[in-house]
Amino acid sequence: MNRLIGDLLDVMRIDAGRLSLELEELSVSSVLAVAEESVRYLAAERDITVEIGHAAGQLHVRGDRGRLVQVLGNLLGNAIKFSPVGGLVRLGVSRDGDRVVFEVADQGPGISYRDQEHLFDRYWQARSSDRRGVGLGLAIARGIVEAHGGRLWVDSEVGRGSRFSFTIPIVTSRANAA
Ligand SMILES: Nc1ncnc2c1ncn2[C@@H]1O[C@H](COP(=O)(O)OP(=O)(O)OP(=O)(O)O)[C@@H](O)[C@H]1O
Ligand SMILES: [Mg+2]
Repeated sequence: MNRLIGDLLDVMRIDAGRLSLELEELSVSSVLAVAEESVRYLAAERDITVEIGHAAGQLHVRGDRGRLVQVLGNLLGNAIKFSPVGGLVRLGVSRDGDRVVFEVADQGPGISYRDQEHLFDRYWQARSSDRRGVGLGLAIARGIVEAHGGRLWVDSEVGRGSRFSFTIPIVTSRANAA
């Protein structure tokens, strides 16, 4: 399906509180691998290295595989799009109590504090001349993460790159984990 149509449908579902998730126990490293694969071409085009942290180890979360790959694909897509050619994007995970924290960090231009207030608004773009997207990615990503009971935020400083982080509930009893 055309991505814009898919994005608009997602916005409507999130608005209506009807984003249905197919929750299962997921191995974090398998989710990272699929997300990385989904942006491999984009990264190669701009000679960008996507480095995956190894801390994923045996971590498992309760989530919707397709939706989590979509969130990571969005964050990685942004990181790649806004990085200088030849840059490095890091994809990492860590455990924080009863949650897993996912992080996507880039060495791009960074985002001013003022712009950070609008970043997650739908249709917002720092440069309205940017025709590569329409400004829905982060609004949808936040809606998906919140539907999982997690939260999504940014740490960024102009000239120092950006780091987007989100949390998803951890699964510690892994009897049925995929
Ligand atoms: N990693 C980043 N570095 C710098 N600016 C960013 C980064 N990620 C997002 N932004 C800024 O936030 C805006 C909104 O991002 P968002 O993902 O919602 O939309 P988009 O990427 O422009 O379009 P879409 O995701 O719908 O294709 C971007 O246009 C850009 O100005
Ligand atoms: Mg985007």
